[in-house]
Amino acid sequence: MKFLWGAATSAYQVEGGIKNDWSESGFDAGIAVDHYHLFEKDFDLAKQISHNAHRFSIEWSRIEPEEGKFNLKEIEHYKKVIVALRQRGVEPFVTLWHFTNPVWFAKMGGWENKKSVEYFKRYVELVVGQFKNDVQFWITINEPDVYTLNTSLHRIWPPEARADGRKWKWSRIIASWKVIHNLLAAHRAAFATIKKIDPGAQVGIAKNEIHFHKINAPLKKFWWSTYPLNRIKNHQDFIGLNYYLDLHEHKEKALEVSDIGWKIDPRGLYWVLKDLKKYQKPIYITENGLADAKDEKRAKFIADHIYWMKKAMQEGIDVRGYLHWSLIDNFEWDKGFWPRFGLIEVDYKTLERKIRPSSYTYKKLIETFHV
Ligand code: BGC
Repeated sequence: MKFLWGAATSAYQVEGGIKNDWSESGFDAGIAVDHYHLFEKDFDLAKQISHNAHRFSIEWSRIEPEEGKFNLKEIEHYKKVIVALRQRGVEPFVTLWHFTNPVWFAKMGGWENKKSVEYFKRYVELVVGQFKNDVQFWITINEPDVYTLNTSLHRIWPPEARADGRKWKWSRIIASWKVIHNLLAAHRAAFATIKKIDPGAQVGIAKNEIHFHKINAPLKKFWWSTYPLNRIKNHQDFIGLNYYLDLHEHKEKALEVSDIGWKIDPRGLYWVLKDLKKYQKPIYITENGLADAKDEKRAKFIADHIYWMKKAMQEGIDVRGYLHWSLIDNFEWDKGFWPRFGLIEVDYKTLERKIRPSSYTYKKLIETFHV
């Protein structure tokens, strides 16, 4: 089986023209980078830098803009996206939910509502039924952990962001508990649904993992990693790993930081991979990247992370793919457009695309990689 190399995006961050719970709460991505219309051009660029896989997400609010009413025209759009990838020899990795909800779903209480699991399941059934012959890799839910933290606990993302309610800490904790619980239940329901429609499909979650090693880490690690992964361990064909940063105060050396201040620790990826071995599932790195507008640190960042990934593979960890975040500059949630995560740079005035120099380092690593 060939190793999968490429990059990732998510619908709301790149497509443009989406009405969902974010756009309706003061976080409007506008036309973003108009990937909805320019996807073929973007995939040409991905091919030019030797990618053979691409992760993207389907926007639920496009497919089901009103409760129970499905827009089959939008299904056709995503079919075209998949055809465009296949024509270029690029394997689609399809995410079904990446942080955004239809407005009607948010109004019903979003992921705090128990019924969210049923709603999500119905959407998954429809989508997967339409794509079962075209897609081999499905990611159900992206980072249930990060979403819960930023919505219910810290309230920096919709629906809670900028709202006045819930000053009382415990109510936030209870809300967070409901959200994570429902997201994990939604994953399990989606896993069963997809396997019923297409037993040969490969289904997983994209899990954000952090390299914890402070004194108080055991408790943090339990809540962030062990608990959620245990809840889904018998409901996945692979682990999708999103790895970005290290929370450790390294006494021995000052770590470099990205434009948004995240500490860069490629060696942490090695420890995280070793730690995931206990689940005995193949691992795809479904996100790894940094905000680096000047493209000064990206080439080394990629090379170093691939170095530590390879070391883990040499020690028996079954890693089968690496998807960089992101293919292209995009809307970085509450931060807006200023953080630049793309292998491809976008001029937001003209929407012109330019391959960043670090992409050629990545291309070379792809072409020469062996374990
Ligand atoms: C998310 C992406 C986001 C990236 C950088 C991940 O947590 O899945 O949507 O853009 O991190 O913050």
